[in-house]
Amino acid sequence: MFYTIVGTQWGDEGKGKIVDWISSKADLIVRYQGGNNAGHTIKVDDNVYKLNLLPSGIINNKKCAIGNGVVLDPWALIKEISDLKKYRIIVNSKNLYIADNICLILPIHKALDEINEISRGQKKIGTTKKGIGPCYEDKVGRRALRISDLKYPKLLKQKLDSLYEFHKDKILKFNIRLDDCYDELMSMSEYLNSFTVPLWKMINDLGKKNKTIVFEGAQGSMLDIDFGTYPFVTSSNTISGQIFSGTGFSLRNNHKILGITKAYTTRVGAGPFPTELFDNIGDHLGKIGQEYGTVTRRKRRCGWFDSVLLKQSIQLNGITDIVLTKLDVLDELSKINVCVAYEIDGKKFDYLPNEEFLYNNIKPIYETVEGWQSTTVGINKFNNLPNNAINYIKLIENLLETKISIVSTGPERKETIDVNGTLLNI
Ligand code: GDP
Ligand code: IMO
Ligand code: MG
Repeated sequence: MFYTIVGTQWGDEGKGKIVDWISSKADLIVRYQGGNNAGHTIKVDDNVYKLNLLPSGIINNKKCAIGNGVVLDPWALIKEISDLKKYRIIVNSKNLYIADNICLILPIHKALDEINEISRGQKKIGTTKKGIGPCYEDKVGRRALRISDLKYPKLLKQKLDSLYEFHKDKILKFNIRLDDCYDELMSMSEYLNSFTVPLWKMINDLGKKNKTIVFEGAQGSMLDIDFGTYPFVTSSNTISGQIFSGTGFSLRNNHKILGITKAYTTRVGAGPFPTELFDNIGDHLGKIGQEYGTVTRRKRRCGWFDSVLLKQSIQLNGITDIVLTKLDVLDELSKINVCVAYEIDGKKFDYLPNEEFLYNNIKPIYETVEGWQSTTVGINKFNNLPNNAINYIKLIENLLETKISIVSTGPERKETIDVNGTLLNI
């Protein structure tokens, strides 16, 4: 069985928690896009783990892989592996595999990210400044370094030289020394390459043997480079179709695609957000939901649940099941709004149009329901939820015409409702 975990909104939906939960049954957990712009939080008992590059299955002592669709910052990876040692989680070539054709994020990319943001002025995207966009640009520009290049010192030198030559005018004021970069990469080469494998081959072999593979998405569908709120997006395809080109996996059957969805909406960084709240309810959601970015610690913008966006995400990803997270964050509200359509310049829309100049004119149309005003924290049986919470879940399910198979009522593994108890019947 294969599971894809994909964010349906603007990221931070709780993908890390769900990957961790599902990984107990998995043989391999694979990242397929993005990089260390992701921040996936997993809470197990008193420990809170924050992962950026390593798949969340690593916390459960599972075999993990990083696919070629990811852009890999070697410095960040080594730090992340080292930081896990204090929790006695040991990452080595027996539990981590890295695609041998993966492209590398270098210090130059972080500098370029910074420069690009400054040059956008008022229209800045609010990137994580991890060098993600510039690295993907070099990848499609066919001048990026790949991890296997590190094995060949002469080739590495040539490639680095031409990459610096290409960018040198832009990065002049950032005192980045080519020689330092080369030396550091050389010193990491053997260690990094101890993880590399032709992942496409390994993953297809596992698939043919009917192993359970979990594909861990990063970011969210509305940050997709093609289908998100362009240009306020990340630089990779974040939707589920990316698992194929981001890992080389080719089996299409026995696949559940789980759309991880917050019971409300959040966004970090700039860009349109039709249901954003600027009042004390927005502040309340932020406070109760602890809505601060894992990577940049920025405050996340908060708003009502948006079924228009969700329906779009469901189609774009081929979502089979919805996982509704952070229901507990709504506990204290007396009334809850759900966006059911948009009105733009007097016209009704059942999808988010792609024209950037319309983004600011979107008026959400809401349906209002009664809150439940009692705690759902930690409830792990559907029938134990308050009636109004069940009504809210049913309303969303009806609007989305897609079953809600899991409901999450807290950050911990046990704070999870497997609604029909069948999702993990493998
Ligand atoms: P990801 O990027 O999609 O993995 O999500 P993040 O880890 O960035 O943000 C989700 C946050 O919500 C994390 O701090 C989780 O521990 C927390 N979380 C996940 N599910 C729940 C839930 O059902 N209720 C509450 N209160 N917190 C949750
Ligand atoms: P996870 O996996 C939320 C946002 C940034 C910015 C935009 C572009 O934790 O859900 P980038 O650095 O990727 O070029 O920034 O995308 N962004 C995220 N927002 N969750 C994430 O990841 C994000 N990764 C990038 O805030 O608006
Ligand atoms: Mg996150």
